[in-house]
Amino acid sequence: LLAGIVPALVVIAVFSGSFAYWLARYFSQSVLDQWLYDTAATLARRVQRSAHGIVVDVPQGAREMLEWDEIDRIYFEVLSGVGTRHFGDVPLPAPPKQLSWKQRSAFYDARIGTTPVRVLAIVLDDRTDPVVVVKVAETRLKRRVLASHVLWISVAVSVLLVVASAIIVWYAINRGTASIRAAVSRAHRASERTPLLPITIDQTMPEEVRPLIQDINELMENLHGAHRLNREFIANAAHQLRTPIASLRVQIEIALRETDPAKQQTALADAVKLLGRLGRMLHQLLIVARTDDASNDVGHATSVNIDQLAREELEGRLDDCAQLGIDLGYEGQGQPVTIAGSDTMYREAIANLIDNAVRYASSGGRITVGVTAGPPTVYVEDEGPGISATHLEHIGTRFYRVPGSPGEGCGLGIAIVKSILQRHGGHFTLGPGSRQRGLRATMHFPG
Ligand SMILES: Nc1ncnc2c1ncn2[C@@H]1O[C@H](COP(=O)(O)OP(=O)(O)OP(=O)(O)O)[C@@H](O)[C@H]1O
Ligand SMILES: [Mg+2]
Repeated sequence: LLAGIVPALVVIAVFSGSFAYWLARYFSQSVLDQWLYDTAATLARRVQRSAHGIVVDVPQGAREMLEWDEIDRIYFEVLSGVGTRHFGDVPLPAPPKQLSWKQRSAFYDARIGTTPVRVLAIVLDDRTDPVVVVKVAETRLKRRVLASHVLWISVAVSVLLVVASAIIVWYAINRGTASIRAAVSRAHRASERTPLLPITIDQTMPEEVRPLIQDINELMENLHGAHRLNREFIANAAHQLRTPIASLRVQIEIALRETDPAKQQTALADAVKLLGRLGRMLHQLLIVARTDDASNDVGHATSVNIDQLAREELEGRLDDCAQLGIDLGYEGQGQPVTIAGSDTMYREAIANLIDNAVRYASSGGRITVGVTAGPPTVYVEDEGPGISATHLEHIGTRFYRVPGSPGEGCGLGIAIVKSILQRHGGHFTLGPGSRQRGLRATMHFPG
C-alpha cells in the first residue's frame, strides 16, 4: 500500500512545489518591480519642460538616494524626441516594443554590456512634443538570490511534505492492519489447536475485512464438511473390508488345518470367492476415488456410443442370466447414440445397474436394458420387488443398503452411478417399472 502511495505523493509534491515556487517568485519579482517603478516615478517628477528645453533637476543628494542599493546597481536615463539624453551616464536598452500613449510603461529583461538587468521604461504623460521617456535599470543580483532562496525553500517544503505524509500514511496503515494481523494470528493459533475452525468475528475486526472473513468461514465450513465425509468414508470402507478379510483368514486357516482333501478344497474355493469379493470392493473404492477427484477431467474425454456400450455390457451377462433363468433383453435404437464422456466410466455405470437387476430381481425373470436417443438415456428395468419409498430416498448414499438385501454388496453401486453422471453433467433417477412393478433405473446423459 505504502509503495503505491509514495510515488503518488512524490508526484503531488513535485507539482505543488513547482506551483509554490512559481507563485513565490512571481510575487517577489512583482514587489521588486514595484520598487523600480517608485524610483522611475520619483525621477519622472523631476523632469521639467522650460523655454530652454527639457531639464532634469536632480540634486546630488537626491541622485545618491535614488542610486543607493546595498546589492544591485541602478542606472537612469531620460531621453526626449529621437534620442537626446538629458540624464544618465550609460545608454539603456530600448524596450522590445515601441511604447505609445496607450501602453506607456514596460518592464523588460535586457543586458548592459554583459550584465543582465531589469529595465522599466515610462513615457511621460504630458502629451506634448517632444516625447520624454524615463528609463530605470537595475542589475538582477537581488532577484537571482531571491529566486534561488524561493527554490530551495520550495524543495525543502516538498521533501518535508512527502516524508511527513509517508510517515502519517504508514502509521495509519499500520494501525488499520494491526487488528487484521491480530485476528489472523488469533485464527492461526486457534487452527493450530483445532484445524478448520471458523475465525471469530468480533468488534476489534475492521468492518472492511468482515465479508472476507465470512467467506473464508463458509469455505472452512464446506471443507470441514468434506473432511468429515472423507473420514466417514474411510471408516466405512475399512469396516466393509474387515469382514471379508477376517473370513478369508478363517477359510485359509481351515484349509491349512484340514486333512480331508474335499473339505480343504471347499475352504480354498470359499477363500477364492472371498478374494473375488474383496477385489470387487477395492475396484469400487478406486472408482469412487476417481469420481471424487475434481482434477480428473472426465467430462468431455471422448465421444461414446452408449447404444453399443449397453449392448456389449448386456451380452457380457447373457450366459450368467441364462444359467439363472433370467430373460435379459434389449430395447433400443439399433443405431448409434453418441455422447461426450468417458467410455470406461459409462461402462462401469451400466454394469452396476445390470448387476443390481440380476442380483435383486432375478425372481422377476425378465430384465430389459433400453437406450433412447432424444434425450439420450440408458435404463435398466426389472420386474423384481423394487425398492419401497422409505428406502428409495436413501439409495445412492454411499454404503447404504436396504436392510436384509441378499448378496454381498457393500452399497456403493448406485452411489458410483450417481457420481459418474454428476461428473458428466447428467443425472440419475429410480422409479417403478413400466408395468408399475419392479424397478427402472435410468441414466440421463447430457444432451
Ligand atoms: N434392481 C433392484 N431391485 C431391488 N432393489 C435394488 C435394486 N437395485 C438396488 N437395490 C437396492 O439398493 C441397494 C443399493 O444398491 P447398490 O448397488 O448401491 O449397492 P449394493 O448392490 O448393495 O452393493 P454394491 O453394488 O456396492 O456391490 C441394494 O442394497 C438393494 O437393496
Ligand atoms: Mg449394486
